[in-house]
Amino acid sequence: MNFENILITTENGIGQITINRPSKLNALNVATIKELHDAFENLEKDDNIRVIIITGEGEKAFVAGADISEFANFSVEEGAQLAAQGQELLFDFVENLKTPVIAAVNGFALGGGLELAMACHFRIASDNAKMGLPEVSLGVIPGYGGTQRLPQLVGKGRAMELVMTAGMIDAETAKTYGLVNHVVPQAELIDFTKAIASKIMRNSPVAIGFAIKAINANFKDSIDGYKTEIKNFGKCFGTEDFKEGTTAFLEKRKASFKGK
Ligand code: COA
Repeated sequence: MNFENILITTENGIGQITINRPSKLNALNVATIKELHDAFENLEKDDNIRVIIITGEGEKAFVAGADISEFANFSVEEGAQLAAQGQELLFDFVENLKTPVIAAVNGFALGGGLELAMACHFRIASDNAKMGLPEVSLGVIPGYGGTQRLPQLVGKGRAMELVMTAGMIDAETAKTYGLVNHVVPQAELIDFTKAIASKIMRNSPVAIGFAIKAINANFKDSIDGYKTEIKNFGKCFGTEDFKEGTTAFLEKRKASFKGK
C-alpha cells in the first residue's frame, strides 16, 4: 500500500508506523487519519505482526495535534462530524485492536497527538517529550477522546487542570502522573520500545488480545468488566495457545505460540 503521510516498516514481528509530516510537526490531517486507519488494519490482519509501535518522524514531535488549518472554518455539524469520524476511524479503532499498540512519544504530543498516544495500549516517552491538550486555547475542546482517556489515565483533578490551563507537562511529570510508563533518552526510544515489544512477543497473542478486551471493558460504562473477563478467560481454554502454554510449562520447555 502506498501512503503519503506515514511510513511503515515490519521486522521481527514488529510493525512500526511513523507519522511523516515533520514540516507540520506531524499534525494529523484527515488524510493522515485515514492512512493510519488502513495501516493499523493491515498490520492487525498480518499474523506475523505481534506488536505495533507508532511514533513521529524527526526529533521534535510525535504529533503536534489535529491539523488546525483544516478545521478553522468548520460549522457546528462539520466539527461534530470531524470528531465522530476520527474517533471511529483511528482512536477507538486503535484502542480496540487485539494486537498491542505502543506509542513511542518522541517529542510534542499535543491535542490529537496526545489523544492518539492515549488511545494506544501504553506509552513510552523520550526525555524531550512534552504533552498536553491545548484545545481550549483555540476555543475548542479535545474531540478525539481526550476528555475521557486523560482522566482515566491521570485522574480527574489533573485532567481538569491540564485541559483548563491548556498547559504542557514534560516527560518526567507525565511519568509521575502515570500517563507514560517509561522515560528514556531520545536516541534510545525506539530500541527501548522494541525491547518491551520483544517481551510481549514471548506470550500468547490470543491471550493478549483477550486481555486487552477485558481491560478495556473496565472503562466502558455499558459493559460489565468482570463478566467480560469471565467470558474471555473461558474462551482461552479453547485455544491452541492455551494447550501449548500449559503443556510447555509442564514439560519444562519454552512455549511456542501460534496465535491460534
Ligand atoms: N496544525 C497545523 N499545523 C501545525 C500544527 C497543528 N496542530 N502544529 C504545528 N504546525 C505547523 C506550524 O504551523 C508550522 O508550519 P509553517 O512552518 O508552515 O508555519 C510548523 O508546524 C512548525 O511549527 P511552529 O509553530 O513553527 O514550531 P514551534 O517550535 O515554534 O512551536 C508548538 C511548536 C508545538 C508549540 C506549536 O507548533 C504549536 O503550538 N502547535 C499547535 C499545538 C496545538 O494547539 N495542538 C492542538 C490542536 S487541536
